[in-house]
Amino acid sequence: MKKKISFIGAGNIGGTMASIASGYNYADIVLYDINGDFAKGKALDISQMNVVNGHDTSIIGTGDISEINDSDVIIITAGFPRKPQMTRDDLLTANAKIIGLVATNVAKYAPQAFCIIVTNPLDLMVFEFQKRSGLPKHKVVGMAGTLDGARFKCFLAEEFNVSVKDIEATVLGGHGDSMVPVLSSVAVKGMRLGQMLKMNLTTQKRIDEIVNRVRHGGGEIVSLMQRGSAFYAPAACALEIAQSFLLNQNRVLTVSAFLDGEYGDIDGMAFGVPAVIGDNGVKRIIELNLDGHETQMLRQSVEHLESLIFKLS
Ligand code: LAC
Repeated sequence: MKKKISFIGAGNIGGTMASIASGYNYADIVLYDINGDFAKGKALDISQMNVVNGHDTSIIGTGDISEINDSDVIIITAGFPRKPQMTRDDLLTANAKIIGLVATNVAKYAPQAFCIIVTNPLDLMVFEFQKRSGLPKHKVVGMAGTLDGARFKCFLAEEFNVSVKDIEATVLGGHGDSMVPVLSSVAVKGMRLGQMLKMNLTTQKRIDEIVNRVRHGGGEIVSLMQRGSAFYAPAACALEIAQSFLLNQNRVLTVSAFLDGEYGDIDGMAFGVPAVIGDNGVKRIIELNLDGHETQMLRQSVEHLESLIFKLS
């Protein structure tokens, strides 16, 4: 039997994901939007593309949320995107309302689903969604660390003039300006950053610039585009997480996941950590061996999230 993936929100990320996932052939797709006709239009367009590409995926566009019933995976992008000059945190109150409503409906129609949140401010929306839906914590994650990590790898590959395939780099913590690009995780096929600095393949100044660019990677795109925010990479990253669940790939992907005593005994908060994603959702959180400075930055990132949680009544 085919799997079922539902996308809640048919904007740029939702629409892009639906068009990519329609090529998988092993899952049927529901594209929901509060503006049902908008979702229907995009679904129609994608189903006509599928004819040309030879895919027989069923794709439904709808404004009826009950169509998500019995989904295996639900990816939620509903909510307001950032405008230039805004931080992700500025969206907190408005998007918490939307996420609360979505959570109630997911609990009603698809309580077995593995849910991937994309709506910002990411980690707080993961927290809110889990609280309002009551879904098990290992079945709710946020897409961000994979995206921040992709940005980090993209800039490092450019700096070292090597293929993106051969770069290792992880970003931990909240998906905001306090995120922690982990320098001790950076490697080119096993060659560590320290060694590359010694060999003058880069300088500390350039690495600091890259770290800063990663932290503001989403904002850089928002200010260039002026209308809307990034969507190709976010769509690819959310689908990478979905596939690891649907195909039980056990990929180690950095997602915003609920901690249960890891990273210095943090409990009940969700933020970006590497996790094994398979057919039961989050199977295991991976604890990286951080240096003192990285541990301190991670703590600051978590404290920032904690300082905002009280705004979620
Ligand atoms: C970004 C959004 C998806 O970082 O948060 O582009």
